Amino acid sequence: MVRILTKYWDEKDSHSIDVALKSGGYQSAKKALALRPQEIIEEVKKAKLRGRGGAGFPAGQKWSFVPDDNKPHYLVINADEGEPGTFKDRYIMERSPHMLIEGIIIASYAIRAETAFVYIRGEFQKAYERLKSAIEEAEQRGFLGRGILGSKHNLRIHLIRGAGAYICGEETALIESVEGKAGRPRLRPPFPAVSGLYKSPTVVNNVETIALVPAIFELGAEKFLSLGSPTDGGTKLYCVSGHVKKPGLFELPMGTNLRDIIFDYAGGIVSGRNLKAVLPGGSSTPVIKADECNVNMDFDCVKKIGSMLGSGAIIVMDDRTCMVRALESLLEFYADESCGQCTPCREGCPWIYKITRRIEKGEAEPKDIDLLLEVSENILGNTICPLGDAAAMPAISIVTKFREEFEEHIKRKGCYFDNLPLAPVLEGRSMV
Ligand SMILES: Cc1cc2nc3c(=O)[nH]c(=O)nc-3n(C[C@H](O)[C@H](O)[C@H](O)COP(=O)(O)O)c2cc1C
Ligand code: SF4
Repeated sequence: MVRILTKYWDEKDSHSIDVALKSGGYQSAKKALALRPQEIIEEVKKAKLRGRGGAGFPAGQKWSFVPDDNKPHYLVINADEGEPGTFKDRYIMERSPHMLIEGIIIASYAIRAETAFVYIRGEFQKAYERLKSAIEEAEQRGFLGRGILGSKHNLRIHLIRGAGAYICGEETALIESVEGKAGRPRLRPPFPAVSGLYKSPTVVNNVETIALVPAIFELGAEKFLSLGSPTDGGTKLYCVSGHVKKPGLFELPMGTNLRDIIFDYAGGIVSGRNLKAVLPGGSSTPVIKADECNVNMDFDCVKKIGSMLGSGAIIVMDDRTCMVRALESLLEFYADESCGQCTPCREGCPWIYKITRRIEKGEAEPKDIDLLLEVSENILGNTICPLGDAAAMPAISIVTKFREEFEEHIKRKGCYFDNLPLAPVLEGRSMV
C-alpha cells in the first residue's frame, strides 16, 4: 500500500524538518520551481488531483482560472476543518507540516502568489504550534522567503487563527474573516480565483489537497493518478467514526470500497451489531443505507448513488441508532451555525430542527413529516452558500429513507429506540 501523507508519521518527531528532509522533503519543490507555472498546472491536471475540502473540484483547473494580470495573487489554505466527523487536516499539520509547506511553495509558484495564508481552526493549538515552528524552520533553511531554492520565487506564509465559527470554513466567508470582517459568505460570481482576498485573484485549497501536491512531482502525474481511481488521483485520508470497532484515520487509495473501509480497516460494527446507515462524507452529505454501501469512495462513484464523498468523513451508525435523534442532533448544529444572511437558511434551519425535535419528543402530528420535507426542499438551492444545502440534504435523505421511524415516533408519541428489541446480529458483512 502506498502511503503519501502518512508515510513518516510513525517516526519520532515526524513534524521536524530533519525527518522531512531525510524522507525526501523539499525535493519536489526544487523540481517544480525549475518548471514554468503553466507546466506545473498541467502536471496537476494530469494527476487528476481533486479538492479534498468537500466539493472535489480539480485543483489544476482551479489554479488555471487565475488571470495573468499585475495584481498581487494570494494562496489561502483552508485549515478550518469544521465539518463534523472530519479529523484529517489537523493530523497533517501536527505530524507532517513540512509536506503542507512544500505543497504551498509549489502551488503559490504555479499561481504566481508571493503571499500565502493558512487559516487554521482556533481550537487546534498543537497543530498551530507545530505549523508555526515548521514555517520558522523552513525560513531558516531558505525554503521560504526571498529567492526560494535559488529560484526567483519569493514567498511568505502567514498563520491566521479562526474563532470557532463553522461558516468560516466556507471559502468566501474565510476570505472575509482573513480581511478582518465577520465571516459571511459572498455572492458569486465573481469567484475568488478572479476577485478574492482584497479583491485580488485568490486560490483557496484544503490542507489535504495541497499536502498531496509534492507527491505529484515526486512520483510523476501518471503514477500519482494510478494510486487512486481513473477520475480521482492519489490517496485519500478517510476519517472513520461512529459505531465501528476501530475508529480512526486511514490513508487508502482514493476509491477504496466503503464496505472494505468499514469492515476491514475499521474492524466492523461494535458489539457485533448490524450496520444501519452511513453519512459517507461528513454531516452535510445525504445518508446511505446499509445495502447501498457497496460503493467505491471517490467523488464520482458516491455521487452516482445520490450522496457525496465530501471531506471523506465516514460516520457509521448501527441498528441501535434512532434516525430521528440523529437528524435532530445534526440539525441543531446547522441551526446554530447559520450566519443569518439569507432567509431560507436563517429561518429554515431552526425550523426543521424544531420539527425534528417535536417528532423525537412525541409532540408532533402526522403532517409534520411532510412539513419537514417541504421546508427542507425550500432551503435547497435557495441560499448564498451551501450551508443551507448542507442541512437540507441529510434531512431530506434521512426522512425519505427512514420515514417509517418518523411515523412510528408520532404514533407512539416519542422515541421507542431505548426499549426496542433489536434485530438478530448478523455476522460479518452478511447484511450488506
Ligand atoms: C459551510 C461550509 C463549511 C466548509 N468548511 C470547510 C473546511 O472546514 N475545510 C475545507 O477545506 N473546506 C471547507 N468547505 C469547502 C470550502 O468552501 C472550499 O470549497 C474548499 O476549501 C476548497 O478547497 P479544495 O478545492 O482543496 O477542496 C466548507 C464549505 C461550506 C459550505
Ligand atoms: S446559506 Fe446560511 S450560512 Fe450560507 S450565507 Fe446563507 S445564511 Fe449564511
